[in-house]
Amino acid sequence: MKEQQIDIRFQEYGSIEELNAEDRELAEAAIEGMKGSYAPYSHFNVGAAVRMSGGQIVSGANQENAAFPSGLCAERTAMFAAGAKYPDKDMLSIALAGGVYGRITDEPATPCGACRQVMAQYQSKSGKPMSVIMIGHKKIWKFEKVDDILPLIFDSI
Ligand code: THU
Repeated sequence: MKEQQIDIRFQEYGSIEELNAEDRELAEAAIEGMKGSYAPYSHFNVGAAVRMSGGQIVSGANQENAAFPSGLCAERTAMFAAGAKYPDKDMLSIALAGGVYGRITDEPATPCGACRQVMAQYQSKSGKPMSVIMIGHKKIWKFEKVDDILPLIFDSI
């Protein structure tokens, strides 16, 4: 038996002003995207924004539904819209922010497992790393690739 270890590295920033210009623009789009949230049940408003290889930014927000599983997270709303609108472009980065009644959480918003799996798929489609930027009021985390937030990615079919 050999004990193995998975090492995950990421960057922590104190505010979006510390991000580079591209990431800051994407972070601002994610925060702006929160305004599109429809969350009458959880009141947790999430916004997400995807940067495409052509420079385009596509944003999204969570959409809830009385039949709960029919709703969708902000990240998948953004990624599916981006995939549908720019099928020939790569998704290079995604940012997300969230908070109850639109007040951004102090800690960074972290994507759910299903959204991570969808990120992994688009990263695999493009063959390029997709960075993930998680925004909080007090700190921001940046992961260089989806593998860092979904180790041992399933993409075997
Ligand atoms: N939500 C997202 O939009 N993204 C996530 O990664 C986690 C959760 C949404 C789904 C639901 O509308 C609300 O947040 C509460 O779970």
